[in-house]
Amino acid sequence: MQNITIAIDGFSSTGKSTVAKQLAKALSYVYVDTGAMYRAVTLYAMQNNFIAQDCFDTEALINQLDDINISFKFNETLGFAEVYLNSVNVEKQIRTLEVSKFVSQVATVPEVRRQLVKQQQQMGKDKGVVMDGRDIGTVVFPDAELKLFMTASANTRAVRRYEELKERGDDVSFEDVLKNVETRDRIDSTRKDSPLTKAVDAIEIDNSNLTLDEQFETILQLAKQTIAKN
Ligand code: DC
Repeated sequence: MQNITIAIDGFSSTGKSTVAKQLAKALSYVYVDTGAMYRAVTLYAMQNNFIAQDCFDTEALINQLDDINISFKFNETLGFAEVYLNSVNVEKQIRTLEVSKFVSQVATVPEVRRQLVKQQQQMGKDKGVVMDGRDIGTVVFPDAELKLFMTASANTRAVRRYEELKERGDDVSFEDVLKNVETRDRIDSTRKDSPLTKAVDAIEIDNSNLTLDEQFETILQLAKQTIAKN
């Protein structure tokens, strides 16, 4: 049986990464969280003062792109790969609301996208990969054997994200989280370079009313059927 490429795209906080991780584990595939890569670049821009409240020095970031090294290292205890920025584990830092506020802007920069897409294509070149993001089925791996497009209402997604941040101990308000989800939806789907859109051959999964188990079972079956056909 051949290994395949599984592309999972969709709006923010649709639970893509949760199901992608579960799926990769069940199939013994590699999981790549491409959102984490955009987040790591954003963190770098924040640490170097290229981005702050109302200003974003795009040129400065572009000039430093070659100095940004992003890698993933599997954490046996956690059961998934954590993201490293220039050899420092930044898995926690990249998930803050602060990074979420700027990341969509950073992801509009074509030079950033080009660099990260190249790395993602390299990571998935041997197949046997589950990759989640916004442009995996349309740009990174347009030939992926299985493409999924996840959706859920903005409110459902904000509730999930709010609970996740609260659980981590972050002091956030629900209104701020909902606003961030809606703003990111708008920026991600209207940007010029590779906007978030459903690939014509992607299967749409609205998980507003699905439990995590139901969602996982549905997707696992789709993956098994696709693997059997290849
Ligand atoms: O999946 P996430 O919410 O962690 O992604 C963070 C941001 O990165 C999201 O707002 C859009 C951007 N992104 C992107 O433009 N392309 C990808 N392949 C993955 C993420």
